[in-house]
Amino acid sequence: MNDLAIQLIDVTKRFQGPGGEDVLAVDHMHLDIPHGEFFSFLGPSGCGKTTTLRMIAGFEMPSEGQIVIRGESMGHIPAFKRPVNTVFQSYALWPHMTVFQNVAFGLEMAKVSTSEIKIRVAEALELVQLEGFDGRKPDQLSGGQQQRVALARALVQKPAVLLLDEPLGALDLKLRKQMQLELKHMQEQVGITFIYVTHDQEEALTMSDRIAVMHKGRIQQLGGPEEIYERPATRYVADFIGETNFLEGRVASLQGEWTEVNIGDAFLLHAPTVEGVTNGQEVAVALRPEKLTVQAEVEPNLHCISGTVEEVVYIGTDTRYIVNLLGDHRVVSRMQNLSSSKKLTHYPPGSEVIVGWEPSSGRILTE
Ligand SMILES: Nc1ncnc2c1ncn2[C@@H]1O[C@H](COP(=O)(O)OP(=O)(O)O)[C@@H](O)[C@H]1O
Ligand SMILES: [Mg+2]
Repeated sequence: MNDLAIQLIDVTKRFQGPGGEDVLAVDHMHLDIPHGEFFSFLGPSGCGKTTTLRMIAGFEMPSEGQIVIRGESMGHIPAFKRPVNTVFQSYALWPHMTVFQNVAFGLEMAKVSTSEIKIRVAEALELVQLEGFDGRKPDQLSGGQQQRVALARALVQKPAVLLLDEPLGALDLKLRKQMQLELKHMQEQVGITFIYVTHDQEEALTMSDRIAVMHKGRIQQLGGPEEIYERPATRYVADFIGETNFLEGRVASLQGEWTEVNIGDAFLLHAPTVEGVTNGQEVAVALRPEKLTVQAEVEPNLHCISGTVEEVVYIGTDTRYIVNLLGDHRVVSRMQNLSSSKKLTHYPPGSEVIVGWEPSSGRILTE
């Protein structure tokens, strides 16, 4: 046994589409997930997240490649013999059974002794904060509580890996946010490897140790939440995770750590050099809205470009400014509304302003 919980070795999955055509759901995926990691697959609907999870679970067989769990190739090992358990968006609890019976069911099937079942069910219910709910039926529980029962039912089996396919998708926003933190804490407590599927970027950023951003069956970028957000590798990732301004331009010169980019002959800017960038190359410089400040004066150490405010949107915590920069480059700036003593000056539409940012916040994207 090695220290990896899961390995995907060149895994591909093809389906037949409705017209008999080939659908490439997962495209030559390579992946190592160490034990105890909270790992997320993040991507839009249809990018192959569920298919990947179902292949790990054993509900689908790869068309090519191998799935290895704890050092053992799964080959044709059926789902029920794999050391994994799955939690879906639909809780699929048995309506006629109590919470206790729902959670205990798998253990009873496995002929675990009655006394051990009692202890393990109690532990699992404590873990999901449902102590005292043993005797209730699913229809006497809220959606969030039902999902906790589904979690307890999976965790009670002590799987090596827990697979979760958009498990919070049916819950309202507030409960979802609360459950995100709880799930993260739960995972830290039990130390089981969690493989989580979501199309919600904030959810992935909140919970994951590492995230695989998927696009058309492939992993576009793999990294920690901060890495993915602060240093996106491609336009697709920058665009999918959070909001991004793209300034399109051409590399004017390479100066070691810094690259000078000419933005449509309107202005030059510097951004940190990235691997593979070449002189004269067409690139985009990605800038997050919260890195841009709208101000009245030019400031040393910032890139300062003049522009005209086109639109101001107050959204409570922040104010969004849409500014048309020199050369007709429209950008969004997001300024926090701090305490009233630090109240921001407001710049109504039509104001001539300076948009400033630290050169290090620009991210050069070559693809
Ligand atoms: N059983 C199936 N038969 C045919 N096509 C499928 C099947 N399951 C999934 N697909 C296709 O594979 C692609 C990936 O689907 P899926 O893994 O469900 O994506 P996601 O979970 O990211 O939304 C989609 O184009 C989907 O239509
Ligand atoms: Mg899915």
